[in-house]
Amino acid sequence: MKVLILDNAEAAVRRAADIVARLVGDRPRCVLGLATGGTMLPLYDELGRRHVSDGLSFAQVATFNLDEYIGLPPDHACSYHTYMREAFFDRIDIDPARTHLPRGDADDPQAESLAYEARIADAGGIDLQVLGIGQNGHIGFNEPTSSLGSRTRIKTLTDDTRRANRRFFDTFDQTPRHAITMGIATILQSRACLLLATGAAKAEAVAGMVEGPLSAACPASALQLHADATAVLDRDAAAALTLVDYYETVHPGGRESVFDRT
Ligand code: F6R
Repeated sequence: MKVLILDNAEAAVRRAADIVARLVGDRPRCVLGLATGGTMLPLYDELGRRHVSDGLSFAQVATFNLDEYIGLPPDHACSYHTYMREAFFDRIDIDPARTHLPRGDADDPQAESLAYEARIADAGGIDLQVLGIGQNGHIGFNEPTSSLGSRTRIKTLTDDTRRANRRFFDTFDQTPRHAITMGIATILQSRACLLLATGAAKAEAVAGMVEGPLSAACPASALQLHADATAVLDRDAAAALTLVDYYETVHPGGRESVFDRT
């Protein structure tokens, strides 16, 4: 895994935006996998800013989000459909018909999960999957002990995750208990993965992901199996890593190694 450590969260966000923007610039018809959550908001701000000021166009890009809460229709204020429209899609030139999220209000969430996998395959697969990480090491909503071979399916959220997401809902009781999420194997099938983590609260999970054993106990550790996975971290999120000196030798200032394209 490439580990890029930036001095602060703003620099980490800009670095992650560089990686997305480079792909979109090189391959305007690329397929992006997208995440939600607090960490992604400044990334979408930055990409939206580059759309306005640098002419970065998403007109031909297709997107697939990782997950959606079961029970919430797309127009629900707390759905990930709404999050994505407000945080990103309404601020760029993307064709809404090319944006995809699982339908949380599907009559048959299991069938919706299978159909979502098929839609990803029909689009030719995901070129770059953008990821955040939960404090418990989840990616998407693949909670600890999720099968490393899992595909898009229904997951029950842990109370830890519900407590972390409680801030978006009126009460803990209203915070959804289930989601449709891409599986770990779905994520690993993406041609490249880019995980952005900022802040001290993510330090233990990041250490488990990068340096811990490959284990369903830390679902993000599955990225160790991916041949093209990049973690973009700020110093706080990198604080529990033991090999920081090495990562900084290979990627000084979070730049590509001398052997990679810059
Ligand atoms: C949601 C998702 C989650 C979040 C994770 C971190 O689409 O993929 O795995 O990335 O829960 O969320 P924040 O950024 O709010 O800490």
